[in-house]
Amino acid sequence: MAKSSTQYTCQACGSCFPKWSGKCDGCQGWNTLVEEPTVDSFQKKPFLKTQKLDFSSLEDISPPLPRLLTGIEEFDRVSGGGLVPGSVLLVGGDPGIGKSTLLLQVAAMISHKTSCAYISGEEAADQVRLRAKRLQLSSAPVQLATTTHIGDILKSLGTTKVAIIDSIQTMYVDTIEAAPGSVSQVRASAHDLIRFAKKHGVTILIVGHVTKEGMIAGPRVLEHMVDTVLYFEGERGHHFRILRSVKNRFGPTDEIGVFEMTDKGLQEVANPSALFLSQRTEDMTGACVFAGIEGTRPLLVEIQSLVAPSSLATPRRAVVGWDSARLSMILAVLETRCGLVCGNRDVFLNVAGGLRISEPAADLAVAASLLSSLGNTPLPRDAVFFGEVGLSGEIRPVSQQEARLKEASKLGFKTAFIPKPTKPFSCEDITLVPLAHLSELASYLEITPKARRRYA
Ligand code: TYD
Ligand code: MG
Repeated sequence: MAKSSTQYTCQACGSCFPKWSGKCDGCQGWNTLVEEPTVDSFQKKPFLKTQKLDFSSLEDISPPLPRLLTGIEEFDRVSGGGLVPGSVLLVGGDPGIGKSTLLLQVAAMISHKTSCAYISGEEAADQVRLRAKRLQLSSAPVQLATTTHIGDILKSLGTTKVAIIDSIQTMYVDTIEAAPGSVSQVRASAHDLIRFAKKHGVTILIVGHVTKEGMIAGPRVLEHMVDTVLYFEGERGHHFRILRSVKNRFGPTDEIGVFEMTDKGLQEVANPSALFLSQRTEDMTGACVFAGIEGTRPLLVEIQSLVAPSSLATPRRAVVGWDSARLSMILAVLETRCGLVCGNRDVFLNVAGGLRISEPAADLAVAASLLSSLGNTPLPRDAVFFGEVGLSGEIRPVSQQEARLKEASKLGFKTAFIPKPTKPFSCEDITLVPLAHLSELASYLEITPKARRRYA
């Protein structure tokens, strides 16, 4: 039997099957399989033209290309020090988070320095103009166009140096018969854009919507194709937005930029620590300030927790802004190593301001916040916490302690609970409380199993 030249690819996870079925065996998603040409059917075609490669040594360094700074400092830092000519940048995020707003602002800033096109496939030109008016950017010399056809875009770019494509899910190439937004269309459109960018030295910024599962639609196919991936995130109810770099071929990753969504668009937040701590209330139990590091920048945030009696057979564990598996681990360590039982209680944990923390250094702050809530004792108001907690309850050192302490001191904190340092060190304005084990923190705060009975 002749081998089929098409296959069925899952639009959610990328698994391939020879036959169509309603459910994908790879990710268990329903109605996600779409017919596509197989890789073999491409490979059967003979090479039309081949040529020998010119090998060169690793030493041949061409001078670095000048980077294009947008003037929006938070954006420039996250992109690794400005846009690199010929690079392709993907800005991902939930629908409605503010990607179009951010990129219109970026386009307006760049257009004063070099030619910049903004191509919208989602909104009509008038809608974009209205937004520009609202952002007071109408006078910026941005070249605006609306289309969804990649061929048209590439034909029109000409001498344009920076192009913004909003969004890749609306774009299509006519060599592939699949709906816009499907994996194959997204992949082919991005491929054409990337090839064009490299060939002509144009910087292309692509907007990509993230699916419910937290992936950039078209299962991460875009992430490895582009040079830089930035995520724009934030909680719906909050006006803070975080731009996070998760991949960068031209700079460091894990850098964040903080913005505030106002009625005049996104404003940069130069001192995010002060902002995240601005709504602290007096002596609340369960509230704890974590001295964190995001990329190269120290950032203080409040971690709040609530340990409440539960009426459920399986008590609730709800986490916003932190890893729920890590919370379970801290609870288990508190229970086993410090004798504090919260198995019959609901535990809620929240990182204030809609920020998402992934550093293990937050363990100690989370533990302190849980201890405070469990023992109904407020933590010292002028104290910050950082340190990684191990499974035996030991507190391990973390990186960049000086930077964390300096930021805490700048914001008026007087005490820091830190992992016991291997060699003694001191900090001018801050009293250090070195801790080797979690039980030391519990006894320091007088939250021992015995003391806890007082509050029960
Ligand atoms: P948008 O940039 O359209 O989001 P995305 O492109 O990621 O889908 O942002 C839409 C939201 O931003 C919308 O809910 C309104 C809000 N917004 C403001 O609050 N202020 C503003 O000045 C603008 C332009 C938008
Ligand atoms: Mg948009």
